[in-house]
Amino acid sequence: MSEERHPFLQGLSKHRGAPPTVIVIFGASGDLTARKLIPALYNLGLDNLLPGDFHLIGYGRKPIPDAEFQDKSEKDIGQFSRRPLNSDIWPHIKKNISYHAGGYDDPKAFEELREKCLAIEKEAGRDLQFLFYISTPPSVFKPILENLGSSGLAAHGKGTNLASKVIIEKPFGRDLATAMELNQIITNQFDEKQVYRIDHYLGKETVQDLMVLRFANSIFEPIWNRNYVDCVQITVAEDLGVGTRGGYYDHSGATRDMLQNHTMQLLALTAMEAPVSLSAEDIRNEKVKLLKSIQPLKLDPHGGDAVRAQYSEGIINGEKAPGYLEEQDIPQESATETFAALRFHINNWRWQGVPFYLRSGKRLARRVSEIAIQFKQPSGSLFTDPSRFDMAANTLVIQIQPDEGTTLLMNSKIPGLETRTQPVKMHFRYSTTFGSNTPEAYERLILDAMVGDSTLFIRGDETETSWKLYTPLLEYWESCGRKGLDSYQCGSWGPLSADRLLWENKHEWRRAGP
Ligand code: BG6
Repeated sequence: MSEERHPFLQGLSKHRGAPPTVIVIFGASGDLTARKLIPALYNLGLDNLLPGDFHLIGYGRKPIPDAEFQDKSEKDIGQFSRRPLNSDIWPHIKKNISYHAGGYDDPKAFEELREKCLAIEKEAGRDLQFLFYISTPPSVFKPILENLGSSGLAAHGKGTNLASKVIIEKPFGRDLATAMELNQIITNQFDEKQVYRIDHYLGKETVQDLMVLRFANSIFEPIWNRNYVDCVQITVAEDLGVGTRGGYYDHSGATRDMLQNHTMQLLALTAMEAPVSLSAEDIRNEKVKLLKSIQPLKLDPHGGDAVRAQYSEGIINGEKAPGYLEEQDIPQESATETFAALRFHINNWRWQGVPFYLRSGKRLARRVSEIAIQFKQPSGSLFTDPSRFDMAANTLVIQIQPDEGTTLLMNSKIPGLETRTQPVKMHFRYSTTFGSNTPEAYERLILDAMVGDSTLFIRGDETETSWKLYTPLLEYWESCGRKGLDSYQCGSWGPLSADRLLWENKHEWRRAGP
């Protein structure tokens, strides 16, 4: 692509109004920065969505020369970007990348960071927005936020449309008390509208499509309730194990790592009422309202609404995989769950009596995330003879990943001279209709934060409402230790005890996938 032709190179960004920005990434040498953040920024540049004045400062404890950080970023793009490095565009992004070494609890390093940001602003000859991306372990969230406050960086541009913003990665607390504490620390330094609590599931195309599917089509809304829906099953399954993240994961577990945040967002978007408008506040109000109407989980050693388990050795994708306790950095006595299944009831007009089943786990049979709306059986007794009529419950499956799309399961007559039936599927696949190169979640979310759109981010009260539901469960499990912790083989669909949650209502887990 020639220098004359690409609009980015002519300063003609087609950005959605992203103002000139300095983004500072805390945790710059971390895995997320390499795999997701740098490639996302590069792809925004490639799509001409970065502002004309765009600067990136990586912040980390380890001293790294600017050139080395630039080269590492280039390698990260080569390895992790969805599109290859474009040698015309990349140098223009690269030249505005620098690195700042400093401790997270070192006020002097933040003073220096401020001077660096102000020098960039001076050189640009116009006001710039400062966007801080906190992608560090949670133990340093507090000092970073406090130093952003005391250095004056948090207040930069306050009162203008270039007010500083902060993006905070998960985990957002580990229970209600710590989430509330973190919210307090944040709001001591930033106004809520400057804060972007990230949940990358909200940046996924299919998750955003949920609102469109529900509210831009008139055929689904009338049946999206207890009169027609029998149950909802949300599955977020991974075939990978904990890999090298054992140190983090063992303090987290499937419930904190996936269910309390990602899976709960899927539930909220599936079950909430139509918002008054598409504004961030109206949508988030509806999500909070929905979360508030979820009944507390029943906790009981012999039943209840929750099941947890740990993976044991097994075969996955044809290869032998170790059990959780054999993984790197996992203590022998660990009671951390790598799988959890929950049954929620929503106490409102629309959903009374409809169970919402959620499950998530590592080392399951395949990687698949989906929301399945299972409808009630048709009334009447026309097709009840099982020897002729193979019938399945109508199910609308929204497949979040991989192979994004929507599938409707229905029953059809098998062609022939007698009447026999069989379940069939009607598919819509994103890749077939729109091509397969859709933006990654982080591209959308970073751009949204840059332009000041918080619709796809979690509001403070939203995370607290979710933690209110999860904290009693986590405390209960902690008090039980390994008692009641089930196990499942790598490569399976989880423990048998997870089936019990559904049998009580004569339901069964779907075999997730298209
Ligand atoms: C992260 C979790 O938030 O989400 C990981 O910490 C998990 O454990 C990942 O693997 C899954 O994300 P995705 O986008 O691959 O489904």
